[in-house]
Amino acid sequence: MTTPNLFDNQQRLWNGPGGQAWVDSQQLLDALFSPLLPPLLQGLGAGARVLDIGCGTGATSLAAADISGDCLGIDISAPMLELAQMRAESAGNPARFVCADAQAHDFAENSFDWLISRFGVMFFADPQAAFANLRRGAASGARMRLLAWRGAEDNPFMVCAERAAAPWLPALPLRRPGAPGQFAFADAARVHGILQAAGWDDIGIRPLDVPLSMPEAALQPYLSRLGPVGLVLQQLPEEERAALLARLRQAFEPFVKGGRVEFPAACWLIEARARG
Ligand SMILES: C[S@@+](CC[C@H](N)C(=O)[O-])C[C@H]1O[C@@H](n2cnc3c(N)ncnc32)[C@H](O)[C@@H]1O
Repeated sequence: MTTPNLFDNQQRLWNGPGGQAWVDSQQLLDALFSPLLPPLLQGLGAGARVLDIGCGTGATSLAAADISGDCLGIDISAPMLELAQMRAESAGNPARFVCADAQAHDFAENSFDWLISRFGVMFFADPQAAFANLRRGAASGARMRLLAWRGAEDNPFMVCAERAAAPWLPALPLRRPGAPGQFAFADAARVHGILQAAGWDDIGIRPLDVPLSMPEAALQPYLSRLGPVGLVLQQLPEEERAALLARLRQAFEPFVKGGRVEFPAACWLIEARARG
């Protein structure tokens, strides 16, 4: 099974089955995560030059560009950016996109007044180098506002599938604390230290719990494609996949209420200013 290696290589993950799953699930994910847009974009005004880090299929870039008139989305995933670009063109939205690693991209100095990210900053090989590079692209005093997941214990929905599937999928990749991945920013003190060392001031990291929901009918497509278990499921023969999905579905029963799947997103809302 190739999946454990896949999680150690972000380029391959997001340009391969991980990115494709996000492309195919774009509508589902954008609807699911839409309650996170207001806290991310609160206070953004017209004329601000925005950078959207790890912008994926572009929902946050389009929303930011709608407000400010100027947003550059950066991402390493070519298929996700292709969809983002198509969405901007068909909506006549001014958002622009670049396919590059935000940790190393050669940003022109003083290019951005606002830097935002919805779950796109937890995958850097060297987060301090990445945020120092982002500081170089930012104007002095530029604002940064990021959403990142808190820990697995605060986000039982996000680890429900792997916990339920563990007896049948012993090769599932282990989550290593601090390693690039969904929960890499779980430790707020570590994130604070990274940002401070990388040239960011006025750092605030506060918990934000946002209720999310999707139709019950979306749960199976979600489980079959997304997260570590979704990626492994795609490699299983049809019969095995169906049997495992049925077992997983039972484990999610506590999250199903009145035809909807409901859970809180336990996030950090991370704010900082580029050091002058
Ligand atoms: C969890 S997805 C979030 C996508 C998007 N922000 C959203 O909310 O829909 C994480 C994104 O980060 C991108 N990413 C991972 N490492 C990156 C890097 N070093 N530079 C730029 N983007 C990166 C991935 O390709 C993926 O699109």
